[in-house]
This record gives sequence, structure tokens and C-alpha cells, in this order.
Amino acid sequence: TVSREFIDNLPKAELHVHLEGTLEPELRLKLAQKNHIDIGTTSLENLKATYQYDTLASFLAVYYSAMAVLQTEDDFYDLAFTYLKKARQNNVRHVEMFFDPQAHTSRGISFETVINGLSKAAKDAKEIGVDAQLVMCFLRDFSKESARKTLLAAEPYHEKILGIGLDSDEHNNPPLKFSTPFEKAVSSGYHITMHADVDQIDSIDHIKQALEVIGVERLDHGTNIVENPDLIKFACAHKIGLTSCPNSNKFLSQDMKNHEVKTLLDYNVKISINSDDPAYFGGFINDNYWAIAQTANLTQAQVVKLAKNSFDTAWISEKQKASYQ
Ligand code: ADE
Ligand code: ZN
Repeated sequence: TVSREFIDNLPKAELHVHLEGTLEPELRLKLAQKNHIDIGTTSLENLKATYQYDTLASFLAVYYSAMAVLQTEDDFYDLAFTYLKKARQNNVRHVEMFFDPQAHTSRGISFETVINGLSKAAKDAKEIGVDAQLVMCFLRDFSKESARKTLLAAEPYHEKILGIGLDSDEHNNPPLKFSTPFEKAVSSGYHITMHADVDQIDSIDHIKQALEVIGVERLDHGTNIVENPDLIKFACAHKIGLTSCPNSNKFLSQDMKNHEVKTLLDYNVKISINSDDPAYFGGFINDNYWAIAQTANLTQAQVVKLAKNSFDTAWISEKQKASYQ
């Protein structure tokens, strides 16, 4: 077995964390007061009582409505830097952080405000010993045209954005809906990944599209590939990273997917442990490692492998990888 101390001290990369999902109720209340935004209550306790969800759709409703308090460049900076300090405490050496520009531009916040605040925090993270990069996600329940425009808006900030992802409500929003913007993203030099949330109605079809047609380098969640031996082979052959999030799984699927993670480790699939939306699913990355290590009875070697996989599938040079471990 593995001690909490061992997990806490282990250097790791975090590859699946949504910055908007790091917005804690405390900061949400503070920003609501500062920006004079009515969020229905001024009590932390009452606010926390509204955090109720047990499916992807019911979670997303709370997640998007919470973002109303994010208004200025400083707000986005505070959001990201607050997370980055936590990441440092969790011994995260390198992080690739998702953000959802359309969730802000659709409510009248400019792309520039979002990217300037977040990228300044990423830059300042160097000073606290964290290498931080940004991955811009398209919202898959928005149109392909909206994704195209978002990619265009990002172009002047290309050097601040390492990759492109796809998130939000997966139901009836398959990867192929976004084949054109993802082709453009690849030809512009971005890395690409996509969510394949746990236990979706069309999980296997969506995973096939993402891997075989779009050509993603990673799958966010993606643990449903265990159901299909050909996909497991594909993931091994192409060193596809799977970014599993135990506490998120527990909330949204009532199952941490311990068995799936262990099976995929046995197959040598490059699976890692991440926090997804730590403010919503009860913990940062070390809490997620600890949760699965305990409930799945992971050996020290398995925990080390999960952390090694996080560096192996990070979008950094071999030299950089070696320097963190
Ligand atoms: N946006 C934030 N977290 C998400 C998740 N786990 N799945 C899909 N979209 C998300
Ligand atoms: Zn996610």
C-alpha cells in the first residue's frame, strides 16, 4: 500500500483540470460582492447547498452559472493563480489547464479579457515553481461555426495556447461535428485532445471517431475504451494519453472506475490521474490519487506509473519531462 505522504511528495503533471472548475464557492462569493453580481445569496453555506449534481448535464448547469462572477482580467488571473498555488502544494510540476472561452464570450466578456488574465497567471506560475500551459476547449453543445470563430479569435494569442480540446455536454455532440475546426487546429500547430466522458450513450463510437478519424493525442476520461480490445491496442500503439478523474467519476457516474484504471494499467495504456473540476468534485489532484490508491488498493509501483504516464503524455520535450521527475 501507499501512504498519503508518498502521494503528496510524488512529482506529477496535471493534464485534465478546467480552470473554471477550480472556482471555489469562497472566491465566487468574493467576486460576486466585488462585481455587484446577484448570485441569489451572500451566505457561503447557502451557496454550497446549491452544489448538487449526479450527472454530466446537472453538473454543467451549476458550473456554467457559477462563471457569471468572472468579469475582469484580474478575476481570470485570480482564478488561475489561486489554482496554481494549490497545484504547487500538490507537487504538480507541469500543468496543462483547460479553459472554455465560449462560456465567457457568450455572456459578453471579450476573448482578450479571458486570455490576458489566464496567460498572465500561467507566466507568473514559473516564480512558484510550476510550468503552466493553456489548452482552449470548444464547447461541444455550441455550433461548429462558433468553434471556428473561437479558433480564429485565438490566432493572435497562439503562442499562449498549447492545445485545443473539446468539452461540455457530449450527448448528441460527437467528435465528427468538429472535424473541420480540429483539422484547422492541427494545421496551425496546436496539440489536440477531446473529452470522452465516462459512460456516455455513444462512448465507443465517440472514442473511435476521436482516435481514428480526428487523430487526438489524448482522450479526457476515455476509460470506456476497456470495452473494446481493438481500441486498447490502438491506444497502446499510438501512446494515447487517458486522463482519468476518480472523484469526478464518483459524482457523475457513481463509480470511480477503479477496475477500469487497473485494467488499463495492466495493458500499459498511458493513463493518468487528474482532478477535472476540483471545486466541484471534492478535491485537488492528490486527493484524487489518494482516493483511487485507497479504494483500488494500488501498489506503490502502480501509483508511480500513473505519475510517470502524466509526464509521458504531457506536451513537453523529453528533456523537460526528465527534469521534473
Ligand atoms: N467541463 C468541465 N468539466 C467537464 C467534464 N468533466 N466533462 C465535460 N465537460 C466539462
Ligand atoms: Zn473534464
